[in-house]
Amino acid sequence: MDVMDSPDDAFLDPRFSAAVAVAREAGGLALSHFRNLGALTVESKGVQDPVSEADRQTEAVIRSRLTTQFPDDAFVGEETGATGVDPDRGTWVVDPIDGTQPFLLGLPTWCVSIAYVHSSDIRLGVIYNPVTDEIYAARRGRGATLNGAVMHVSGARRLSEGLTGLGCSARTSPQDLAFMAEHLRAAGGMFHRVGSGALTLAYVATGQLIGYLEMHINAWDCLAAILLVEEAGGVSTPFLAENGVTGGGPIVASAPGVFDELRSVLPAT
Ligand code: IPD
Ligand code: CA
Repeated sequence: MDVMDSPDDAFLDPRFSAAVAVAREAGGLALSHFRNLGALTVESKGVQDPVSEADRQTEAVIRSRLTTQFPDDAFVGEETGATGVDPDRGTWVVDPIDGTQPFLLGLPTWCVSIAYVHSSDIRLGVIYNPVTDEIYAARRGRGATLNGAVMHVSGARRLSEGLTGLGCSARTSPQDLAFMAEHLRAAGGMFHRVGSGALTLAYVATGQLIGYLEMHINAWDCLAAILLVEEAGGVSTPFLAENGVTGGGPIVASAPGVFDELRSVLPAT
């Protein structure tokens, strides 16, 4: 097929199956490291930004499986960077372990995140938490599921009706963090943070959280999860259009009833 056309089922079916299988395989590898954290050598990529061989090995497995099975696709990974990115090609966008800090601390809130982008749209999104054995999966136009059960975002109409995920990294200034916390609380809302943007966005898709916001998140952290939220009936700012498959920027994603209120909590950029 011409890659500029919208991908059909024959094109996407094997990619969806592969994404689910690879997320499970890679998650199993990461979990074996998680059960033996003392053996890992941890390095720093920057302030509050650790990495270990668990991240690198897990990405290597994902990259190898997907690029072998789909050699015409491009690949973007948090740990190994971008290969072959071109608007005319489908692109895998992968975070091998999102939530590296909780992972290295023995906390259970981390996941494998795999998105597939084609013709300027997120077509597939798969997130796997190996600790809880929960797999979140979505295809554009086909809904979103958690372990096979259909997900729906919350019916909340005000930020005061639930918890909002508030993402933060060293890329967010103290002033912007203070702005978001202040305005969320002023609206009667409450923040929640578990250290994985991907997983927290998945909690928006399940309806457990009512929304998520962060001043700067990277594409590999959020593309799969944005599709989960949208296919579960939620709304997101146009992250892919604004930042592409390798960039980063602000995100607001939520149940439709609180989207406008939550957008007003994000500082102006
Ligand atoms: C980070 C986490 C964090 C989010 C950051 C990400 P990492 O990814 O998802 O929750 O706030 O924007 O960089 O370092 O755990 O892969
Ligand atoms: Ca990440």
